[in-house]
Amino acid sequence: MKAIILAGGAGSRLYPLTQVSSKQLQAVFDKPMIYYPLTALIASGVRELCLISTPDDLPRFQALLGDGAQWGISIDYRIQARPEGIAQAFIIAADFVGTDNVILMLGDNIFSGGDDFPRAVSSFTGGASIFAYHVKDPQRYGVVQFDNAGRAIAIQEKPQHPKSNYAVPGVYIYDHEVVKIAQSIAPSARGELEITDVNLEYLRQGKLQVRRLSRGFAWLDAGTSSALHEASSYIEAIERRQGIKIGCPEEAALIRGFLSIQQFEALIAHMPRCEYSDYLRGVADEWHRLQRERA
Ligand code: DAU
Repeated sequence: MKAIILAGGAGSRLYPLTQVSSKQLQAVFDKPMIYYPLTALIASGVRELCLISTPDDLPRFQALLGDGAQWGISIDYRIQARPEGIAQAFIIAADFVGTDNVILMLGDNIFSGGDDFPRAVSSFTGGASIFAYHVKDPQRYGVVQFDNAGRAIAIQEKPQHPKSNYAVPGVYIYDHEVVKIAQSIAPSARGELEITDVNLEYLRQGKLQVRRLSRGFAWLDAGTSSALHEASSYIEAIERRQGIKIGCPEEAALIRGFLSIQQFEALIAHMPRCEYSDYLRGVADEWHRLQRERA
């Protein structure tokens, strides 16, 4: 399974924050926003990633994330010249996807809790697999309608009168047919290649699976200044309460076995002394303690 992170767009709803920095590089409590989807992908076992952003912002992502080798992954980069729709990601990254399955994650979606994504990735056998999450304000999202047997029967993009409270989060798993489907759909009234139209095509073909995310799962959206602030507060509260950080790519890479403990410790040695590196040092200590216990 490969992964695409889509991190373009104008970020106009976060103006003036986004005048000189991309939306997906804004701080969500103690880390850049992009660390959260990136970590969710590493935790799902994905090693080959492609990040898509604007011509102006792409060099900033490259400066922050590099080629990914420090986390035992590879990151390719592609430019989206104009924000012409989420589904355009598959056209831009067609050569990257090749004949593999692919998971697309939006760079401004923050997830915490549960093992829904790793399970969906490891059990994926083809077609499309998307998720549904209960929200209070479904009209802001793609909305899934279910029949009495709990099967998805329709998806509507930002409906005025939603048929359910189940919104589709920005995580989508597809087989490589998605490239052809993205190439075949027409732009919507707002001039974008809609991801909902891709999902509707899989639904029409009887190949769409919709998984409801569990209650304990948190999906946060950081699209407006208030939502960004709320996301930061949420992450801070959980991290302070649990003493465990959300969205640390280094930690996820260690747990997944993408990094050895020696590589992990070498990474920390290059970091400045700060809360973040202190936390990772604690993770390494805990790793050694568990090894001693097992011996
Ligand atoms: O967050 C989930 C929702 O994302 C889904 O429920 C909707 O079905 C889906 O259409 C999308 O909703 P939005 O229209 O609100 O997405 P937005 O235009 O805000 O774009 C989401 C992110 O993707 C944003 O961080 C910018 C990036 N993006 C978007 C477009 C359209 C790009 O990088 N390029 C693009 O062309």
